[in-house]
Amino acid sequence: MTQDQKAEPQAQFDAFAAKDALNGVGIVKDPYPRLAELRAQCPVHQGSVSARFDMPGADRIIAAEDAQASVYTFQGVDAVLRDVQTFSSNWYHVTLGEVIGRTILEMDPPEHRRFRSLISPAFTRREMLRWEETFVRDIVNSYIDRFVADGRADLAADFAFHYPVHVIAVAAGMPVADLPEFYRHTALLTNVAASQEERLAASRDLGAMVRQLIDARRKEPSHDLIGVLVRARLTDEEWDGTGKRQLTDDEIIAFLRLLVPAGAQTTYRAITTVLYGLLSHPDQLDAVRADHGLIPQTVEEGLRWEVPLLAVGRTALRDTEVEGCPVRAGQIVNTPFAAANHDPARWERPDDFDIFRTAVPHVAFGVGPHVCLGIHAARMEMRVALELLLTRLPGLRLDPDTPCEGVTGLGLRTAVHLPVVFDTV
Ligand code: HEM
Repeated sequence: MTQDQKAEPQAQFDAFAAKDALNGVGIVKDPYPRLAELRAQCPVHQGSVSARFDMPGADRIIAAEDAQASVYTFQGVDAVLRDVQTFSSNWYHVTLGEVIGRTILEMDPPEHRRFRSLISPAFTRREMLRWEETFVRDIVNSYIDRFVADGRADLAADFAFHYPVHVIAVAAGMPVADLPEFYRHTALLTNVAASQEERLAASRDLGAMVRQLIDARRKEPSHDLIGVLVRARLTDEEWDGTGKRQLTDDEIIAFLRLLVPAGAQTTYRAITTVLYGLLSHPDQLDAVRADHGLIPQTVEEGLRWEVPLLAVGRTALRDTEVEGCPVRAGQIVNTPFAAANHDPARWERPDDFDIFRTAVPHVAFGVGPHVCLGIHAARMEMRVALELLLTRLPGLRLDPDTPCEGVTGLGLRTAVHLPVVFDTV
C-alpha cells in the first residue's frame, strides 16, 4: 500500500468524528441508569429515546415526538421485531432510501423473503469460513504488521476502524487500487454530518464503481460477492411469471451500498467494545488469552453488554399494544437494544461484562425475519480479530500512561480510542 492509500482511511476516520458527535459518542458515557429508570417506570414511553437524554439523534430528526414511541424491555423489543404483520420496516425508505436505494432492509413480506433468499446464500456460516481462510486473516495480519514492532497502538483507530470496511471491499471483489476511492465514498455515504449533496455524490460515485464490477462479472463469472449476486436466481413462478428472476444492476448496487453502514460500521464499533470489555477486565482477558476456546462466548457477551447500534425502528400499521401499552397506527416504534440487552428480567447483573455468564440470546443483531444477514460475518470477523490480536500481541493491556475514555455514545456505542501496550518479541 502506498502512503496515499494509508492516508485515506485516516481521512475517513476524521470524517466520522462529526457523525459520532451527533450520536453522543464522547458525550453520553453511561446511558444504562437512565434506561433502567425509564424501563422501571413503564415498558413503553411515548417519544424518542434521544429526547430522554436531551441529545439530538437520528430518531428526533426523523419524526416528531408525538409520532413515535420507544420500547425499553427485552420482551417488548423482541415482540415488535418478530411481528412483521403489525410493524413495517418501511421507515428505512425515509431514512436511507435516498442515498442507498431500495434494499431488503426496507421491505416487508412477501417481497422481503424473496429478495433475502436470493442474497442469503452469500452469507452462510460455511461461506464465512471461506472468507476467513481466503482473505480475512490476511487483512487482520496486515494491520497488525504495521504496529507489532512498536509495543504500543490504538486498537480502535489503527485497527478496528479500518478492518471491517476493508473486508467488505475485498469480499465485493473491489481491486486493491480502488480501495482509497471506496473508503472516500463510504465515509460520506450515510454520514449525517456531511451535506445531502455530498452524500448523494458519494452514493452516485460508489454506484458507478460497483456497476463496473457488475459489468465485468456478467462477462466473466467470479466467486466474490458481486459475482454471487450477479448469478443469483429465484425459481419462484409467482414472483414475475418467469421463474428466472435475477437481481437488476440497481438492486445489486443498492445492496452493496447497504453493506457499508450495515456491515462495516457496526462491526468496527462492536470490535472496539468487546476489546474494551476485555482490556478493562484483566482477569477475563487472562482467561481468554489462556484459552482461545472462550472467544466465541466473549464475542457474544461483548455484543450483549455494549450493542453498537442503539435501536432500529418500525412503523405501526394499525392501532395496537406493546407490553399492554397503546401504540397508534402510523407511529414509529423505536427498539433500543441497549435497554433490551440490559433488562434485569432476563439477565442478572445486566450492566456487568461477564464472559462466564449463562448465555441466553440477546438482540444486538435484531430478531425475526430481518435478523442481521451478516451475523456469521460479524461473529467471524470479531473472533478472528481477537484470536490474532491475542496471539500476536503478548502481554496486551491498556496503556497505563494514556487515559482511555472507554465506550461512549447513545445512538452508536463505540470506544473511539483504545491505547494499548504489549511486549515486543
Ligand atoms: C456486530 C456487527 C453487526 C451488528 C450489531 C448488526 C446489526 C444488525 C441489526 C440490528 C439488523 C436488523 C435491522 C432491522 O431489523 O431493521 C441488521 C440487519 C442487517 N445486517 Fe447487520 N449487523 C452487524 C454486522 C453486519 C455485517 C458484517 C453485515 C454484512 C457483511 C451485515 C449486513 C446486514 C444486512 C444486509 C441487514 C439487513 C437484513 C434484512 O433486512 O433482512 N451486518 N444488522
